[in-house]
This record gives sequence, C-alpha cells and structure tokens, in this order.
Amino acid sequence: MGRAFDLTGRVAIVTGAGHGIGQGVARVLAAAGAVVVCADVDAGAAGATSEEIAAAGGSAAPAAVDVSRRDQVHDLVRATASEHGRVDVMCNNAGIIIDVPVLDLSEEQLDRVLAVNLKGVLFGCQAAGAVMRSQRAGSIINMASGAFDTAPARLVAYSISKAGVVQITRTLAKELGPDGVRVNAIAPGLVETDITRRHYTAEDGTVDEDKRERFLGRSRDLAPLRRIGTTEDVGHAALYLASEAARFVTGQVLRPNGGVSMP
Ligand SMILES: NC(=O)c1ccc[n+]([C@@H]2O[C@H](COP(=O)([O-])OP(=O)(O)OC[C@H]3O[C@@H](n4cnc5c(N)ncnc54)[C@H](O)[C@@H]3O)[C@@H](O)[C@H]2O)c1
Repeated sequence: MGRAFDLTGRVAIVTGAGHGIGQGVARVLAAAGAVVVCADVDAGAAGATSEEIAAAGGSAAPAAVDVSRRDQVHDLVRATASEHGRVDVMCNNAGIIIDVPVLDLSEEQLDRVLAVNLKGVLFGCQAAGAVMRSQRAGSIINMASGAFDTAPARLVAYSISKAGVVQITRTLAKELGPDGVRVNAIAPGLVETDITRRHYTAEDGTVDEDKRERFLGRSRDLAPLRRIGTTEDVGHAALYLASEAARFVTGQVLRPNGGVSMP
C-alpha cells in the first residue's frame, strides 16, 4: 500500500516546468522517485527547476519546447523515450491566459491562447499517447482549470481552451484505455503564480498588497478550506494521477480547489 505512490524508475515529462504549477508538479514527481524532464519555452527556467531538483537529491533534465509547435512536442517526447527508454507520465501543463472581455477579444489573442492551451495539450497527448500505447502503460495528466466549470468574465479564450482540454482528456481516455493508458485532467482553483501576480505586481516587481489581498482574498473566502492553493497542492494531485494509486481512474477531472466549486 505504501508503495502505491512510489514513482521510482518512472520517467515523467512536465511542460511549463520552469515556473508556477509545472514547477510544483516537477518537484513532487521527482520527490516520489521519478526522473523528470522539465520542459519549458523559457529554457533558462527549465534549467533552474531541473538543477533545483538535482540539488534536492532528485533526477531531472531540462528541455526547451514551445508546446504550440507540433514538431517540437514530438521531438521532446521522442528524445525522452530514446534517452530514458520510456515515457510513463506526460503532464501537459504549459498554459497562458488573456484577460479581455468577449467583445474586445481579437482573433490574434484567441489564436494564441488556443495554440498554447488547446493545441499544445493535444500535441502532447498525441506524442506521448503513441509511445504509451506501444508500452501498453502510461498516465497522461492535462492541466485544465476551475475556469472550465465557472467561465469567469473576461476569460473566454482561456475557459474555452480549458473546456477543450477536458474533452481531449475524456476522448483520449476512451481511445487509449484498452491499451492500458490512463488520461485525466486536473482543474485547480486559484494558485498564486505569475498568472495571478500580474494582477497586483508593477513592472518593477513591486507588489500592491491591497490589490493582492483583494484578488486572492475573494477565492480564499469562497473556499470551505479558507485558503488558496499552492503549487505543491496541485503537484500532489498530479502524483496521485501519475501513480499506481490511481490505476482504476481515467477520463476524470480532479479539482484541487479547497472546495470552491462542487459541480
Ligand atoms: N495559477 C492558477 O491559479 C491556475 C489555476 C488553474 C489552472 N492553471 C493552469 O496551470 C498551468 C500553469 O499555470 P501557472 O499558473 O503555473 O502559470 P505560470 O505562468 O507561472 O507558468 C506557466 C509556465 O508555462 C510556460 N509556457 C508558457 N507558454 C509556453 C509554451 N508555448 N510552451 C512551453 N511552455 C510554455 C511558461 O514559461 C511558464 O514557465 C496553466 O495551464 C494554467 O492555465 C493555473
């Protein structure tokens, strides 16, 4: 039973591992024993996460990838499989957000969000799914968002991308289940990362504490557990889905959100 969460000998790829939630997922999977390929469009940040994991006694390697580029995502998965022999976990986490009312959303803004958040996840699923199908084992974890349930004002491009992520997850879970591959999504509630910090941080890095409290306080007060999430909270959700503990779980959306929404 104690070994159900042990990832020793497993190979994981985490996209968007340079910052925020992806970094938290990479740390937790590495602490559970996995070799983690930390992939990010920000190669320096991917390197920093990988070094930090190694310094803590874990196994990690950095990789540069723009998930909106199908060829780059396939190269990442191919290189990981050839270097480490297999791909057991693929966490398609990289994502961006654009905060604009529906009536003002430009076609370029829509295309950019869908390219990273929706196509990026689909490319990751296709590349990892093919390797996992031939291994007859694997766990794909796609990062959705509570925005897929709640459709917040000004986040239409983001929330349709996340609704799409959930549908990719469900479809692929049906297609790859018979081959022993599980596919699930995580829909976190609010977590303080660069995505939230831009709401209360000036260009020179100064934080407006009143604005920060207003922004984060709303979600905290709505949560029965009375706090917002941490990157580690989401990392633990990913660890569960990656591990043998979740061997009968596929096509599901896990919501680490302190109870903010209960659809
Ligand atoms: N922070 C939250 O409150 C929250 C809540 C729910 C879901 N999410 C989701 O979690 C994921 C991570 O968000 P975060 O809050 O950690 O944001 P973040 O901005 O801190 O981190 C995103 C990471 O993705 C990388 N990235 C961006 N575009 C990329 C691309 N094209 N290719 C590869 N890497 C790319 C960035 O360099 C960065 O390291 C996103 O999918 C986001 O939608 C975040």
